[in-house]
Amino acid sequence: MRVVRTVAELRGVLAPCRRDEALVGLVPTMGAFHGGHLSLIRRARAECAVVVVSLFVNPAQFRSGEDLDGYPRDEARDRALAQAEGADVLFAPDPAEVYPSGFQTAVEVSELGRMLEGDEAGRGPSHLRGVATVVTKLFNMVAPDIAYFGQKDAQQTYVIRRLVQDLDMPVRIAVGPTVREADGLAMSSRNVYLTPAERHRAVALSRALRAGEAVAAAGESDPAEVLAAARAMLDAAGVEPEYLALRSAADLSQIERVDGTALLLVAARIGRTRLIDNTLLGVPEANPASLAAEREEAPA
Ligand code: PAJ
Repeated sequence: MRVVRTVAELRGVLAPCRRDEALVGLVPTMGAFHGGHLSLIRRARAECAVVVVSLFVNPAQFRSGEDLDGYPRDEARDRALAQAEGADVLFAPDPAEVYPSGFQTAVEVSELGRMLEGDEAGRGPSHLRGVATVVTKLFNMVAPDIAYFGQKDAQQTYVIRRLVQDLDMPVRIAVGPTVREADGLAMSSRNVYLTPAERHRAVALSRALRAGEAVAAAGESDPAEVLAAARAMLDAAGVEPEYLALRSAADLSQIERVDGTALLLVAARIGRTRLIDNTLLGVPEANPASLAAEREEAPA
């Protein structure tokens, strides 16, 4: 596996692959790998001739006061894990390579970027603007045929699909299912911040989603009832959600009834750590054990 730091070096390494028309897969990450990241690298390895993993803790998607400085970083460990999964290239640029002095452009997906995570009460509109901007840059740097993202960050996948469509980017977006700990907690680089007591309470998020799934699977179509079932699980653990929402799985718009597919999303702070999770309801093959969803779409 090659470790490259600059765009010029990256393009040099990928040039022969382009000549051979080899399928290039990109897995964008901020490092501190866990099973979720590794599942995406594994899938890219199975589907592509060339697998590029990017590792960049993107300052633009952190708000001041968020955990940019304390974000877990261990490049040596990530390098070993990416190599073990068969990645060909680890692209780990310095901030100055991505945002050289004078940088002033941003990509903003206006509606999708301002709801839920992008609400002022959440991480604010700068978060998904920072994500959209860096993902656009990574797509231009790597020019992947397929880029892999996790359902765990559901809203991020809607923002990325939207910008790819709106800006005519020739890349296919693949979304892999959320990988969970044995008790249901969605894997996250931020889980390392949790104290043992908080780790215990954090399972309330996935329990809440499962309660919502159960009620919807039993035929409940009133969003308020589904939300109430989920809310009860959070209340039982003393977890106050930042948001608990049922949205259309097509475009995250508000829904009147739970029919077809709906997405149940939650964000909550457990101590100082902000966690998010989600699940698709109303998927025909959904079963009680499946807090997992997989979507894939060719570009329009
Ligand atoms: P990061 O949080 O490192 O996540 C990298 C990728 O792993 C994302 O697509 C995310 O959805 C996925 N992922 C995280 N936890 C997962 C889990 N438990 N199961 C499955 N997939 C999971 O998301 C980002 O980085 C950044 O915003 C990025 C897209 C790299 C832009 O900076």
